[in-house]
Amino acid sequence: MKATAKAHTNIALIKYWGKRDESLILPMNNSLSLTLDVFYTTTTVTFREELFQDEFLLNEQVIRGEQYNRVAAFLDFIRRETQATSLHAEVRSTNHVPTAAGFASSASGFAALAAATTRALDLSISDQELSRLTRLGSGSACRSIFGGFVEWHKGTEKDGSDSYAVQVQPAEDWDVRVAAVVLSETTKKISSREGMKRTVDTSVFYPGWLKSIPRDLEQIKDGINQRDFEKVGSISEANCLRMHATTLGANPPFTYWHDATLRVMQGVQAMRERGISVFFTIDAGPNVKVLYLPEDETIVQEMLRQIPGVHDVIVSRSGQGVTYL
Ligand code: PMV
Repeated sequence: MKATAKAHTNIALIKYWGKRDESLILPMNNSLSLTLDVFYTTTTVTFREELFQDEFLLNEQVIRGEQYNRVAAFLDFIRRETQATSLHAEVRSTNHVPTAAGFASSASGFAALAAATTRALDLSISDQELSRLTRLGSGSACRSIFGGFVEWHKGTEKDGSDSYAVQVQPAEDWDVRVAAVVLSETTKKISSREGMKRTVDTSVFYPGWLKSIPRDLEQIKDGINQRDFEKVGSISEANCLRMHATTLGANPPFTYWHDATLRVMQGVQAMRERGISVFFTIDAGPNVKVLYLPEDETIVQEMLRQIPGVHDVIVSRSGQGVTYL
Protein backbone atom coordinates (compact mmCIF):
# COMPACT_ATOMS: atom_id res chain seq x y z
CA MET A 1 0.00 0.00 0.00
CA LYS A 2 3.03 2.27 -0.48
CA ALA A 3 4.83 3.54 -3.59
CA THR A 4 7.12 6.37 -4.72
CA ALA A 5 7.12 7.93 -8.17
CA LYS A 6 9.10 10.67 -9.89
CA ALA A 7 7.71 12.84 -12.69
CA HIS A 8 9.15 15.78 -14.64
CA THR A 9 7.44 18.94 -15.70
CA ASN A 10 6.90 19.78 -19.37
CA ILE A 11 6.83 22.84 -21.60
CA ALA A 12 4.11 23.09 -24.23
CA LEU A 13 5.28 23.93 -27.76
CA ILE A 14 1.73 23.76 -29.07
CA LYS A 15 -0.30 25.12 -26.16
CA TYR A 16 -3.33 23.67 -24.43
CA TRP A 17 -5.50 26.77 -24.19
CA GLY A 18 -9.19 26.40 -23.39
CA LYS A 19 -11.43 23.69 -21.94
CA ARG A 20 -14.57 22.25 -23.46
CA ASP A 21 -15.47 20.62 -20.12
CA GLU A 22 -14.25 22.29 -16.93
CA SER A 23 -14.90 19.49 -14.47
CA LEU A 24 -13.53 16.63 -16.60
CA ILE A 25 -10.65 18.86 -17.78
CA LEU A 26 -11.28 18.21 -21.47
CA PRO A 27 -9.35 20.54 -23.77
CA MET A 28 -10.59 22.35 -26.85
CA ASN A 29 -7.43 21.47 -28.78
CA ASN A 30 -4.62 18.91 -28.97
CA SER A 31 -1.32 20.12 -27.50
CA LEU A 32 2.31 19.03 -27.77
CA SER A 33 5.10 19.38 -25.22
CA LEU A 34 8.68 18.56 -24.35
CA THR A 35 9.33 16.91 -20.97
CA LEU A 36 12.22 18.60 -19.09
CA ASP A 37 14.80 16.76 -17.01
CA VAL A 38 15.83 19.36 -14.39
CA PHE A 39 12.38 20.12 -12.99
CA TYR A 40 10.63 17.25 -11.20
CA THR A 41 8.54 16.09 -8.25
CA THR A 42 8.96 12.91 -6.21
CA THR A 43 5.92 11.69 -4.34
CA THR A 44 5.36 8.85 -1.89
CA VAL A 45 1.80 7.68 -1.30
CA THR A 46 1.00 5.39 1.63
CA PHE A 47 -2.53 4.14 2.30
CA ARG A 48 -3.05 3.58 6.04
CA GLU A 49 -5.80 2.05 8.17
CA GLU A 50 -5.39 4.60 10.96
CA LEU A 51 -6.01 7.74 8.86
CA PHE A 52 -9.39 9.48 9.05
CA GLN A 53 -8.58 11.78 6.15
CA ASP A 54 -5.89 12.23 3.51
CA GLU A 55 -2.72 14.04 4.52
CA PHE A 56 -0.52 16.08 2.20
CA LEU A 57 3.03 17.20 2.96
CA LEU A 58 4.93 19.27 0.40
CA ASN A 59 8.66 19.78 1.04
CA GLU A 60 8.06 18.53 4.62
CA GLN A 61 5.33 21.14 5.29
CA VAL A 62 1.74 20.14 6.09
CA ILE A 63 -0.46 21.62 3.37
CA ARG A 64 -4.05 22.80 3.92
CA GLY A 65 -6.50 24.90 1.93
CA GLU A 66 -6.92 24.94 -1.84
CA GLN A 67 -3.74 22.95 -2.59
CA TYR A 68 -4.77 20.22 -0.14
CA ASN A 69 -8.31 20.15 -1.53
CA ARG A 70 -7.07 19.47 -5.06
CA VAL A 71 -4.96 16.53 -3.87
CA ALA A 72 -7.76 15.09 -1.71
CA ALA A 73 -10.28 15.50 -4.55
CA PHE A 74 -7.94 13.61 -6.86
CA LEU A 75 -7.53 10.75 -4.35
CA ASP A 76 -11.34 10.63 -3.94
CA PHE A 77 -11.67 10.36 -7.67
CA ILE A 78 -9.17 7.45 -7.85
CA ARG A 79 -10.90 5.64 -4.96
CA ARG A 80 -14.29 6.08 -6.64
CA GLU A 81 -13.14 5.21 -10.15
CA THR A 82 -11.01 2.16 -9.28
CA GLN A 83 -12.93 0.85 -6.23
CA ALA A 84 -9.50 -0.39 -5.11
CA THR A 85 -9.67 0.88 -1.53
CA SER A 86 -11.60 3.04 0.88
CA LEU A 87 -8.49 3.84 2.96
CA HIS A 88 -7.05 7.33 3.24
CA ALA A 89 -3.51 8.14 2.19
CA GLU A 90 -0.50 10.05 3.36
CA VAL A 91 1.05 11.94 0.44
CA ARG A 92 4.62 13.23 0.80
CA SER A 93 5.95 15.28 -2.11
CA THR A 94 9.23 17.00 -2.79
CA ASN A 95 9.23 19.61 -5.53
CA HIS A 96 12.34 20.29 -7.55
CA VAL A 97 10.55 22.96 -9.53
CA PRO A 98 11.48 26.49 -8.44
CA THR A 99 8.15 28.34 -8.33
CA ALA A 100 9.92 31.43 -9.64
CA ALA A 101 10.94 29.61 -12.84
CA GLY A 102 7.33 29.93 -13.93
CA PHE A 103 6.68 26.26 -14.39
CA ALA A 104 3.43 24.98 -13.07
CA SER A 105 4.61 22.39 -10.55
CA SER A 106 1.09 21.00 -10.90
CA ALA A 107 2.24 19.12 -14.05
CA SER A 108 5.03 17.13 -12.37
CA GLY A 109 3.07 17.11 -9.09
CA PHE A 110 -0.10 15.46 -10.38
CA ALA A 111 1.81 13.08 -12.67
CA ALA A 112 3.89 11.85 -9.70
CA LEU A 113 0.78 11.68 -7.48
CA ALA A 114 -1.23 9.65 -9.99
CA ALA A 115 1.67 7.27 -10.64
CA ALA A 116 2.47 6.71 -6.93
CA THR A 117 -1.22 6.29 -6.03
CA THR A 118 -2.00 3.71 -8.71
CA ARG A 119 1.23 1.83 -7.93
CA ALA A 120 0.49 1.85 -4.16
CA LEU A 121 -2.90 0.31 -4.96
CA ASP A 122 -1.20 -2.27 -7.17
CA LEU A 123 -3.38 -1.38 -10.15
CA SER A 124 -1.98 -2.71 -13.37
CA ILE A 125 -2.81 0.02 -15.86
CA SER A 126 -1.17 1.18 -19.08
CA ASP A 127 0.66 4.51 -19.30
CA GLN A 128 -2.16 5.71 -21.54
CA GLU A 129 -4.69 4.93 -18.83
CA LEU A 130 -2.43 6.57 -16.24
CA SER A 131 -2.28 9.69 -18.42
CA ARG A 132 -6.08 9.78 -18.63
CA LEU A 133 -6.38 9.56 -14.82
CA THR A 134 -3.66 12.20 -14.35
CA ARG A 135 -5.60 14.61 -16.58
CA LEU A 136 -8.33 14.75 -13.92
CA GLY A 137 -5.81 16.25 -11.48
CA SER A 138 -4.33 18.85 -13.85
CA GLY A 139 -4.62 19.03 -17.64
CA SER A 140 -1.02 19.65 -18.67
CA ALA A 141 0.10 16.94 -16.16
CA CYS A 142 -1.24 14.19 -18.42
CA ARG A 143 1.68 14.91 -20.81
CA SER A 144 4.27 14.41 -18.02
CA ILE A 145 3.62 10.65 -17.90
CA PHE A 146 5.82 10.37 -20.98
CA GLY A 147 9.34 11.58 -21.80
CA GLY A 148 10.58 13.54 -24.83
CA PHE A 149 8.02 15.03 -27.21
CA VAL A 150 4.45 14.24 -26.17
CA GLU A 151 1.04 14.94 -27.68
CA TRP A 152 -2.19 15.19 -25.68
CA HIS A 153 -5.10 14.01 -27.80
CA LYS A 154 -8.14 16.06 -26.87
CA GLY A 155 -10.43 13.14 -27.69
CA THR A 156 -14.02 13.33 -28.85
CA GLU A 157 -15.92 11.34 -26.19
CA LYS A 158 -18.07 13.29 -23.74
CA ASP A 159 -16.79 11.25 -20.78
CA GLY A 160 -13.12 11.97 -21.56
CA SER A 161 -12.26 8.28 -22.07
CA ASP A 162 -10.18 9.11 -25.17
CA SER A 163 -8.49 12.25 -23.84
CA TYR A 164 -4.90 11.31 -22.90
CA ALA A 165 -1.29 11.84 -23.96
CA VAL A 166 0.93 9.70 -26.18
CA GLN A 167 4.66 9.85 -26.82
CA VAL A 168 5.70 11.35 -30.16
CA GLN A 169 9.47 10.84 -29.78
CA PRO A 170 11.60 9.63 -26.84
CA ALA A 171 13.97 12.03 -25.06
CA GLU A 172 17.16 10.26 -26.15
CA ASP A 173 16.37 10.60 -29.86
CA TRP A 174 17.06 14.33 -30.12
CA ASP A 175 19.02 16.59 -27.78
CA VAL A 176 16.98 19.82 -27.78
CA ARG A 177 17.63 22.20 -24.87
CA VAL A 178 15.39 24.64 -23.03
CA ALA A 179 16.56 27.62 -20.96
CA ALA A 180 14.05 28.81 -18.37
CA VAL A 181 14.57 32.56 -18.09
CA VAL A 182 13.60 33.66 -14.59
CA LEU A 183 12.61 37.32 -14.36
CA SER A 184 13.15 39.47 -11.28
CA GLU A 185 9.52 40.46 -11.12
CA THR A 186 7.19 37.52 -11.67
CA THR A 187 3.81 38.24 -10.13
CA LYS A 188 1.05 36.46 -12.00
CA LYS A 189 -2.43 37.84 -11.50
CA ILE A 190 -4.56 35.53 -13.61
CA SER A 191 -4.31 31.75 -13.22
CA SER A 192 -4.23 29.58 -16.34
CA ARG A 193 -7.67 28.24 -15.40
CA GLU A 194 -9.20 31.71 -15.21
CA GLY A 195 -7.27 32.97 -18.25
CA MET A 196 -8.46 30.07 -20.39
CA LYS A 197 -12.05 30.51 -19.32
CA ARG A 198 -12.15 34.22 -20.01
CA THR A 199 -10.51 33.68 -23.38
CA VAL A 200 -12.86 30.90 -24.48
CA ASP A 201 -15.90 32.86 -23.30
CA THR A 202 -15.01 36.29 -24.68
CA SER A 203 -11.99 36.50 -26.99
CA VAL A 204 -12.79 37.51 -30.54
CA PHE A 205 -9.51 35.81 -31.54
CA TYR A 206 -10.33 32.42 -29.99
CA PRO A 207 -11.90 30.88 -33.12
CA GLY A 208 -8.75 31.85 -35.07
CA TRP A 209 -6.59 30.16 -32.43
CA LEU A 210 -8.53 26.91 -32.73
CA LYS A 211 -8.47 27.02 -36.50
CA SER A 212 -4.66 27.32 -36.51
CA ILE A 213 -3.98 24.22 -34.39
CA PRO A 214 -4.27 21.28 -36.83
CA ARG A 215 -1.72 22.77 -39.22
CA ASP A 216 0.70 23.71 -36.41
CA LEU A 217 0.50 20.17 -35.05
CA GLU A 218 1.03 18.48 -38.37
CA GLN A 219 4.00 20.70 -39.18
CA ILE A 220 5.69 20.46 -35.80
CA LYS A 221 5.42 16.66 -35.87
CA ASP A 222 7.03 16.67 -39.32
CA GLY A 223 9.76 18.91 -37.92
CA ILE A 224 10.34 16.55 -34.95
CA ASN A 225 10.48 13.55 -37.28
CA GLN A 226 13.00 15.27 -39.53
CA ARG A 227 15.00 16.76 -36.58
CA ASP A 228 14.41 20.12 -38.23
CA PHE A 229 15.09 22.53 -35.37
CA GLU A 230 14.24 25.70 -37.35
CA LYS A 231 10.84 24.26 -38.16
CA VAL A 232 10.08 23.08 -34.62
CA GLY A 233 11.32 26.34 -33.09
CA SER A 234 9.53 28.71 -35.45
CA ILE A 235 6.20 26.87 -35.15
CA SER A 236 6.52 26.85 -31.34
CA GLU A 237 7.20 30.58 -31.22
CA ALA A 238 4.34 31.43 -33.58
CA ASN A 239 1.94 29.17 -31.66
CA CYS A 240 2.89 30.85 -28.37
CA LEU A 241 2.33 34.32 -29.85
CA ARG A 242 -1.07 33.27 -31.15
CA MET A 243 -2.09 31.92 -27.73
CA HIS A 244 -1.05 35.18 -26.09
CA ALA A 245 -2.88 37.16 -28.78
CA THR A 246 -6.15 35.54 -27.66
CA THR A 247 -5.74 37.18 -24.23
CA LEU A 248 -5.54 40.62 -25.87
CA GLY A 249 -8.80 39.92 -27.68
CA ALA A 250 -10.62 38.91 -24.47
CA ASN A 251 -13.09 41.03 -22.53
CA PRO A 252 -11.72 42.51 -20.37
CA PRO A 253 -8.38 42.16 -22.19
CA PHE A 254 -5.32 40.97 -20.31
CA THR A 255 -1.73 39.90 -20.88
CA TYR A 256 0.75 37.74 -18.97
CA TRP A 257 3.72 39.73 -20.25
CA HIS A 258 5.87 42.17 -18.28
CA ASP A 259 8.34 44.65 -19.75
CA ALA A 260 11.18 42.17 -19.14
CA THR A 261 9.18 39.48 -20.98
CA LEU A 262 9.25 41.63 -24.10
CA ARG A 263 12.95 42.38 -23.66
CA VAL A 264 13.72 38.65 -23.60
CA MET A 265 11.53 38.03 -26.67
CA GLN A 266 13.37 40.81 -28.52
CA GLY A 267 16.72 39.48 -27.27
CA VAL A 268 15.90 36.06 -28.75
CA GLN A 269 14.93 37.62 -32.06
CA ALA A 270 18.17 39.67 -32.06
CA MET A 271 20.21 36.48 -31.48
CA ARG A 272 18.47 34.96 -34.50
CA GLU A 273 19.44 37.96 -36.60
CA ARG A 274 23.04 37.17 -35.64
CA GLY A 275 22.62 33.65 -37.00
CA ILE A 276 21.96 31.74 -33.76
CA SER A 277 19.11 29.26 -34.05
CA VAL A 278 17.03 30.10 -30.98
CA PHE A 279 13.27 30.46 -30.31
CA PHE A 280 11.04 31.36 -27.37
CA THR A 281 7.81 30.14 -25.85
CA ILE A 282 5.80 31.52 -22.91
CA ASP A 283 3.11 29.88 -20.74
CA ALA A 284 0.43 31.61 -18.68
CA GLY A 285 2.93 33.84 -16.87
CA PRO A 286 5.67 36.38 -17.58
CA ASN A 287 8.69 34.03 -17.75
CA VAL A 288 10.17 33.00 -21.07
CA LYS A 289 11.50 29.58 -22.09
CA VAL A 290 14.12 29.54 -24.82
CA LEU A 291 14.72 26.61 -27.18
CA TYR A 292 18.17 26.01 -28.67
CA LEU A 293 20.59 23.24 -29.68
CA PRO A 294 23.50 22.01 -27.47
CA GLU A 295 26.21 23.75 -29.53
CA ASP A 296 24.71 27.16 -28.72
CA GLU A 297 24.31 26.63 -24.97
CA THR A 298 27.14 28.94 -23.84
CA ILE A 299 26.30 31.88 -26.08
CA VAL A 300 22.54 31.62 -25.45
CA GLN A 301 23.04 31.59 -21.67
CA GLU A 302 25.48 34.49 -21.79
CA MET A 303 23.25 36.65 -23.91
CA LEU A 304 20.11 35.93 -21.90
CA ARG A 305 21.86 36.84 -18.64
CA GLN A 306 22.77 40.27 -20.01
CA ILE A 307 19.15 41.30 -20.56
CA PRO A 308 17.94 43.78 -17.91
CA GLY A 309 15.31 42.23 -15.63
CA VAL A 310 16.66 38.67 -16.02
CA HIS A 311 17.28 37.18 -12.59
CA ASP A 312 18.43 33.68 -13.52
CA VAL A 313 18.71 31.23 -16.42
CA ILE A 314 18.15 27.52 -15.72
CA VAL A 315 19.03 25.13 -18.53
CA SER A 316 17.39 21.79 -19.11
CA ARG A 317 17.56 18.82 -21.43
CA SER A 318 14.74 16.68 -22.62
CA GLY A 319 13.54 14.46 -19.77
CA GLN A 320 12.12 10.98 -19.15
CA GLY A 321 8.58 9.98 -18.32
CA VAL A 322 7.36 8.73 -14.97
CA THR A 323 9.66 6.39 -13.04
CA TYR A 324 9.08 4.43 -9.84
CA LEU A 325 11.65 4.52 -7.04
O1 PMV B 1 -2.75 22.45 -16.97
P1 PMV B 1 -2.77 23.89 -16.56
O2 PMV B 1 -4.06 24.30 -15.95
O3 PMV B 1 -1.57 24.24 -15.73
O4 PMV B 1 -2.69 24.81 -17.91
C1 PMV B 1 -1.55 24.89 -18.71
C2 PMV B 1 -1.68 25.98 -19.72
C3 PMV B 1 -0.41 26.37 -20.46
O5 PMV B 1 0.72 26.16 -19.64
C4 PMV B 1 -0.48 27.86 -20.79
C5 PMV B 1 -0.24 25.62 -21.76
C6 PMV B 1 0.16 24.17 -21.68
O6 PMV B 1 -0.20 23.45 -22.63
O7 PMV B 1 0.85 23.75 -20.75
